[in-house]
Amino acid sequence: MDADDAREFLELFYTETRPDTPFEQRLREAYDEITATGTYTHTLDELRFGARVAWRNSARCIGRLYWQGLRIRDRRGVSVPAEVAAECTEHLRAATRDGKLRSTITVFAPDRPGRPGPRIHNEQLIRYAGHRNADGAVHGDPRYAEFTERVASMGWRGPNPPGRFDLLPLMISNGDARPELFELPRDAVLEVPLRHPEYGWFSDLRLRWHAVPAISNMPLLIGGVRYPAAPFNGWYLNTEIGARNLADADRYDQLPVIAERMGLDTSSRRTLWPDRALVELVRAVQYSFDAAGVRMADHHTESERFLAHVANEERAGRPCPTDWSWVVPPMSGGLTGVFHRYYDDPDPHARPAFLPPT
Ligand code: ARG
Repeated sequence: MDADDAREFLELFYTETRPDTPFEQRLREAYDEITATGTYTHTLDELRFGARVAWRNSARCIGRLYWQGLRIRDRRGVSVPAEVAAECTEHLRAATRDGKLRSTITVFAPDRPGRPGPRIHNEQLIRYAGHRNADGAVHGDPRYAEFTERVASMGWRGPNPPGRFDLLPLMISNGDARPELFELPRDAVLEVPLRHPEYGWFSDLRLRWHAVPAISNMPLLIGGVRYPAAPFNGWYLNTEIGARNLADADRYDQLPVIAERMGLDTSSRRTLWPDRALVELVRAVQYSFDAAGVRMADHHTESERFLAHVANEERAGRPCPTDWSWVVPPMSGGLTGVFHRYYDDPDPHARPAFLPPT
């Protein structure tokens, strides 16, 4: 590893916080460890700061106002797949708390010279299978059709008959070793059945979604040290589920179904039937999560909070690299403040960072 990356990170850490150990001493320790072992070990405070700043640097995230509230589960001693899986389950329990969701990251063993850390192959800890039929149609979430085929080829059977919301198993490997599968215990996965505040028929659609979004395939890079398995979660924004996962034509594609039940004129999109169905779907998502007591943000409030975050960063003298196309919500964009301005360009070299999946 490059000792300069370590120095740069420690400089940032010492600029923004007041550690007990003098900077020169800490830097020498890190350099000595790098000379002796090819890498160095973050203190818990460094790890916590590094993970929080990686979040702060995530140009696609609208929820960054809360970056200092990220809770760390330090599991750097864990790299055996079965133990990683058990810790992922514990992560979900600690983050879910019956609906009072907390932003949490679990950091597993880092890559070391000649010894890569563990790897979680799932995009998120909780995802639904997409079962491809003989005719090519997908039952479930089409986004995971390929992943579902892969776990099936490894021996995963899943519920019989296959459903639209079957929990995928975790696929975990120790470094480059052959991946292994682990079923998530049902009681570690909180889900919300969807209903609508006015349309009684809505529950007949039997839609549901999981409470916790937990990204699990983005390596965390802090001061030159790469943690390949560092699953992290926040809480959902209504539109992620209502205006994307359940609405996109290449996902659950529910708008035509809902429009039909609403009795809308679907002969032309110029009647705005997709837009009208979309509003009711997002309403149902928000209403159901609220009624179930599961923390969920709405796009109006989250937009305001994000602009408060941008202002905070400006006051702190920092840029706030932001990807406009990601922070503007996928419905009613112009009704939210985040739509009506420009941002600092995303910086792919900002560090610490969550890296694109490999
Ligand atoms: N959009 C992704 C999904 O629907 C989740 C991304 C992270 N979202 C969050 N609120 N932290 O599953």
